Amino acid sequence: MTVTVRVPAKVNVQLGVGGLRADGFHDLANVFFAVALGDEVTATAGEPGTGVTLSCAGPDADAVPLDDSNLAARAARLLAAHHGLAAADVHLHIAKAVPVAGGMAGGSADGAAALVACDALWKLGTPVEVLLELAAELGSDVPFALVGGVALGRGRGEILEPLPVAGTYHWVFAVADGGLSTPAVFRECDRLREEAGTGSSDTEVATPDADPALLAALADGDAAALAAALTNDLQPAALSLRPALAATLRAGTGAGAIGALVSGSGPTCAFLAKDAEAAEAVAAALRASGSCRAAHATYGPVPGAAVTVGEPRGQ
Ligand code: C5P
Repeated sequence: MTVTVRVPAKVNVQLGVGGLRADGFHDLANVFFAVALGDEVTATAGEPGTGVTLSCAGPDADAVPLDDSNLAARAARLLAAHHGLAAADVHLHIAKAVPVAGGMAGGSADGAAALVACDALWKLGTPVEVLLELAAELGSDVPFALVGGVALGRGRGEILEPLPVAGTYHWVFAVADGGLSTPAVFRECDRLREEAGTGSSDTEVATPDADPALLAALADGDAAALAAALTNDLQPAALSLRPALAATLRAGTGAGAIGALVSGSGPTCAFLAKDAEAAEAVAAALRASGSCRAAHATYGPVPGAAVTVGEPRGQ
């Protein structure tokens, strides 16, 4: 039997970063937005004793680790252990469209997709609340990939509150050459705060909150107001580590994007366009600019990880 799960990537329309906590994480006010650009993970029952095996296809497949560190493999083993299964014999194939180490939570998405796929393959019927807890153990961005839509993530990003949103928004993602390490970008954010004299610990930096103007824009389906409210506290750090991203952001706004920001910890840049046609034009201009490796027009919000082939959950 085979189960295929489609899972979205995310852009953070607000990424408010608080101070560094004692546990090494930062408190966030993280407004996640799920976009149609996504991966597919297919789970196939393995021969007894094979354990979890992985394969990956797609333009950036070479950059995906196919060892035990892969979040999809870790997710399968975590789910099996949670249910006390004697073995997790499964092959996971990842059809990769999300940029790798790009700030769009592609690895986290694959972890979420593997949880849903293995749950269906092994007919476990794991309650959603339990899947969310297992997802949070795997990483801060994994729970959102299960939920999709638009949600506010608090804590390290794993405490989710779905947000009301109207309409469809048109996005363009400019993919950079190579990735950025998320911990390195958070460290650079701390370093820049120290350099500016504001301090970087959670006793020195105020706990961030969701921006009311941004929440109103989402609820109203107002793309122009959302574009004006886009913020990412990690953007200065990503630009400091990758100064060339400034030219990418300029190329997109020069081509008519109504909003632009670095996606999460980067280096992917995200652009909001006024409609689907404008998004295609921005993507074409970005490709022609030479300031990125690839550019994809897409839209959102879309739902979280869901079975497309096989037996859907709860049926
Ligand atoms: O949770 P996840 O494994 O995705 O986090 C990767 C790294 O990113 C953490 O080890 C930490 O360095 C950084 N991080 C952070 N604050 C967060 C989320 C992630 O500092 N809220």
